[in-house]
Amino acid sequence: MYELKDEYLVGIESIDNEHRVLFEIADEIYQLCINEFVPDKYDNIAALIQRLKDYTEMHFDHEEAYMESIQYKRMFTQKVQHDNFKRKLEAMDLEVIDDNQDQAIQDLLKFVTDWLVEHILETDKRITE
Ligand SMILES: [Fe+2]
Ligand SMILES: [Fe+2]
Repeated sequence: MYELKDEYLVGIESIDNEHRVLFEIADEIYQLCINEFVPDKYDNIAALIQRLKDYTEMHFDHEEAYMESIQYKRMFTQKVQHDNFKRKLEAMDLEVIDDNQDQAIQDLLKFVTDWLVEHILETDKRITE
C-alpha cells in the first residue's frame, strides 16, 4: 500500500534506500491500522513510534552530513523541518494514544505519510536539483 514511488526518488542511492525503509515503516503502521485481529495494539503502536524515532534520527543525520559535504545552500530549511518532525514524534503521549488506539494509529499514519511525501517531494528532491 505505502511504498517509495519513482517520483519520490532523489537520485542519491543511500538516501533513496533510507526513504524506502521509511515508507516500509509507514506501511507497517497502515497494516496495523487495518488489522482487526489484534485487540490491543498499544505495544505495536509504541514499538512503531520508537522505530520511527530511531530510523528518522539516523536518516536525518546521514542526510545532513551529505548536505554538509556538498555545502548545500538550503541546509537550514532542511534542519528546521527535520527538527520539527522529531519534536512532533517526541511529543506523542503514549497514555493518550492508549485511550484511543484506533484514532491514534490513523492520526500517526496520516502524519507520517503526509510529512514524508511532502518533505521528500518539496525539500529532499531539491538537494540534487
Ligand atoms: Fe530524507
Ligand atoms: Fe530531509
